Amino acid sequence: AGRPGLFKARLTAEPATARFGADKDTPILAYNGTSPGPLIEAYEGDRVEITFANRIEGEPSTIHWHGMPVPADQDGNPMDPVAAGADRVYAFDLPEGSAGSYWYHPHPHGRTAEQVYRGLAGAFVVKAKADPVPAAYGDTALMFTDLRLAADGSMPDNTMIDMMNGRVGDHVLVNGQKNPKLAVAAGAKRRLRLYNATNARFLRLAFANASMTVIGSDGGLLEAPVAADELLLSPAERVELVVAFDRPGTATLTTLRYDRGWMGPGRPTDAGLTLLTVGVSETPAEAMPPLPERLRPIAPLGAPAVSRRLVLTESMTMNAASMGMDFLINGKAFDMGRVDFVARAGDIELWEIVNQADMDHPFHIHGTQFQVVERERDGNVAKPPYLAWKDTVNVARRETVRLLTRQERPGARMYHCHILEHEQLGMMGIVDVR
Ligand code: C2O
Ligand code: CU
Ligand code: CU
Repeated sequence: AGRPGLFKARLTAEPATARFGADKDTPILAYNGTSPGPLIEAYEGDRVEITFANRIEGEPSTIHWHGMPVPADQDGNPMDPVAAGADRVYAFDLPEGSAGSYWYHPHPHGRTAEQVYRGLAGAFVVKAKADPVPAAYGDTALMFTDLRLAADGSMPDNTMIDMMNGRVGDHVLVNGQKNPKLAVAAGAKRRLRLYNATNARFLRLAFANASMTVIGSDGGLLEAPVAADELLLSPAERVELVVAFDRPGTATLTTLRYDRGWMGPGRPTDAGLTLLTVGVSETPAEAMPPLPERLRPIAPLGAPAVSRRLVLTESMTMNAASMGMDFLINGKAFDMGRVDFVARAGDIELWEIVNQADMDHPFHIHGTQFQVVERERDGNVAKPPYLAWKDTVNVARRETVRLLTRQERPGARMYHCHILEHEQLGMMGIVDVR
């Protein structure tokens, strides 16, 4: 690694066991035996060839390269399942300018939510050839997942409440561990990439005794660093930070209250969880080079050729005999055999995502990065504070988000709510790019 070239790897999805503190083994699903799966680091300009071996018993799977500009037929769509016991190669090039914090996870029809909460997800970092962020800050990917354990150590199946709200676990894990410890020297700065790989937990995050600067979003660096006291990371979103640990003692990454809308009993505890503890020693760090004032230019996507409106709704019909839960886009549930929109490769499109539901829905588009241009709620229109490349944006309940998007490559692309239970229940569609 370190020089552009051919990046080859093998990822095997397979049953495994893990110990989460207790004295019982938990059956999980893992890539190459670990959950999260191995951190993949490649460089802009690299050719990637990854052999996927599906060794999950009796279940098809795929690997989807979340956020990455890969050809549609290499993107692990539900239409391209890899049967249990089978192998396939995913091959794609990482274009110049594609450096960013991506991830990989399964996307088989109807089974994504379960395969992900059982353990299948990993970080895929594309590094820039010329990186403006000082190497002295290090570069650490922290992937948040959400674990629920039954008394016997197993992971319980999804309940109706999980299907409605999305599955929220009892323990937020960071790279598979509960509240892991890091050690740094006073004055140290660290580059951290935070990944929300939970099925449905919204993470409003703040550091105590350390200061946070946002330097990147889902699709790579911002134009300039932005200081932040807190940030909201909805399911599937990522953020790149530089965290300054200026005071000796203990710094913690904790969660704050965030009301994302909840139906029925079992509203999870959202505030006051400590996700990460950093011991800051008295010994001063070696002098850290400053963060540059400019990181990279981002060209705003221009005037759209096409406008589309996507209305997100949910409806519940509960009665003694059945329980209907519909999570719909423009009144329709996902159909693998239906094209919802036809788009032209290279066209800039304005997508207006209207959330008419009582819950937040993090909206994701495959195969590209987009730019949020406007948010509207209760008649108030706001521009985002800075330009950023995103592939997932939270659309809060009763909010409308307008974004500019462009698909460069032909083929069928999914768009969906990244509460994975909602994706499973139908809040997904297909844009066919020609
Ligand atoms: Cu993170 Cu359709 O995916
Ligand atoms: Cu995706
Ligand atoms: Cu949703």
